[in-house]
Amino acid sequence: MTDAPWWQSATAYQIYPRSFCDSNGDGIGDIPGIISKLDYLADLGIGFVWLSPVFASPMADNGYDISDYRDIAPEFGTLADMDRLIAGARDRGIGIVMDLVVNHTSDEHAWFRSACEGRDAPYRDYYVWRDPGPDGGPPSDIQSNFGGPAWTFHEATGQYYLHLFDPKQPDLNWSNPEMRRDVYEMMNWWLDRGVAGFRMDVIDLIGKDIDAGITADGPKLHDYIQEMNRETLAHRDVVTVGEAWSATPENALLYCGRDRGELSMVFQFAHVLDGYEPGKGKWHPRAFDLPRLKRTLNTWQQVCAEDGWNSLFWGNHDLPRAVSKYGDDSAQHRVASARCIATLLHLMKGTPYIYQGEEIGMTNVEFGHIDQFRDVETLNFYRIETERGIDPDAFIRGANANGRDNARTPMQWTAGAQAGFTTGTPWIEVNPNHVDINAEDDRADPDGVFARHRDLAKLRRTSDLIRFGTYHPFDEAHPQVMAYARRLNGEELSVVGNFSSRPAPYEVPDDLAATGVDLFTQEQAILEGEITLDPWQVITVKTG
Ligand code: GLC
Ligand code: CA
Repeated sequence: MTDAPWWQSATAYQIYPRSFCDSNGDGIGDIPGIISKLDYLADLGIGFVWLSPVFASPMADNGYDISDYRDIAPEFGTLADMDRLIAGARDRGIGIVMDLVVNHTSDEHAWFRSACEGRDAPYRDYYVWRDPGPDGGPPSDIQSNFGGPAWTFHEATGQYYLHLFDPKQPDLNWSNPEMRRDVYEMMNWWLDRGVAGFRMDVIDLIGKDIDAGITADGPKLHDYIQEMNRETLAHRDVVTVGEAWSATPENALLYCGRDRGELSMVFQFAHVLDGYEPGKGKWHPRAFDLPRLKRTLNTWQQVCAEDGWNSLFWGNHDLPRAVSKYGDDSAQHRVASARCIATLLHLMKGTPYIYQGEEIGMTNVEFGHIDQFRDVETLNFYRIETERGIDPDAFIRGANANGRDNARTPMQWTAGAQAGFTTGTPWIEVNPNHVDINAEDDRADPDGVFARHRDLAKLRRTSDLIRFGTYHPFDEAHPQVMAYARRLNGEELSVVGNFSSRPAPYEVPDDLAATGVDLFTQEQAILEGEITLDPWQVITVKTG
């Protein structure tokens, strides 16, 4: 397996720069702040960082609205800082993966500015323009992901432009070959600067056929990704991960199959969507159901068993905190549940992603007033929903459960003022629970959440069984326990976790039974016959 790609041995770590570490007291995390934490990341043992956007941007969507792909937002630093970050990370064996946001740009990008100058402007066709519908209104009733119509009228030129997100995020027109060529040139420019790859924002939207009402997984999608690969990624030793909310077990290998010439892997969201009422989306969460979660995760392990590769993640900057969503963030169970869910996820086959703060078990925040929220999606929906008569407090409860700001409160470094994130006033409030939950305290605890992530990352780097072993789930219908084995060349790892805050009786199937030293606690563990697991206990025994 020595010729396997490097990223199959890597644990990834996502940084949301605005909330990670502020070096100059302006309340906004920045690149020098990240550089100051490179030793922390090296200690955790990660292989690459997925860096959420740091490009020049008016920050309507915190950088997912880029006004210049070849420059850095001044509040984050400079290109020279970026070069120092890439080099400093490389010295520690860490790659920097940039966020490629090319479904859309900012409306302040030079291309869009030019496009607005007239119907014949040179960059007009870089975006998607349509005449008004017969009634003078939008050309179609397609809705933006952030609420409201996906078309905004441009007075001066008398046409509507498409934005599947905020009006400040006009969609690029991927059917224009010059536009595609410019994107590839930009990607090569970053690759030549030494970046280790790209996370591709909403990449499943670029093949859209808007006149047919198709947005995700459109007819030209894979042609474009293959062209992008030929023009930029081919013959470079990089990692790529495409954000694909529409990915299904049926189409996933089109993106990441070995002979497809497309991507290393996708972020598939089936387990996230399982948490919503079918077809309804994030503002309509439904009760957690462990068998359903296991069925989904097991299916995805199966999808990439022979070909392709999985990404493994609980959270990111758009999702609630892992321990609050999947674990138990009460004082009694937070650490054990954070350790347990990390272990169950990271020992599957694929590349695990840690979202900043997850490695110390950071939790959701509880905001009481809409003024405390910063996220454009939450604020747009608040306006729309309260205008429709929804009770503001009910909306805020929903946002506290599932909204994106949960993941965006500042990284909790210490118990001190502003959690050690900034010496100034943070752009979004620090979670008051930083006095109990912070990196300094957690790292000092050998049984803490950080220590478990460090051990998991080390296993990912060093164990062929964990990288490449086959995956065998057990007792999918069990309401409390998640159990599986990994097997390779006569070696076997048995993993059994109690995914609940109550003791779990469990009859260990013969094919999973194992006795030996637990991989993490180093204590003698007996996985055999009738056992009872403590709340959130996870047992891992390797045999053979
Ligand atoms: C992706 C990003 C999200 C962003 C959206 C539009 O879903 O993860 O943060 O708002 O794309 O770029
Ligand atoms: Ca700063």
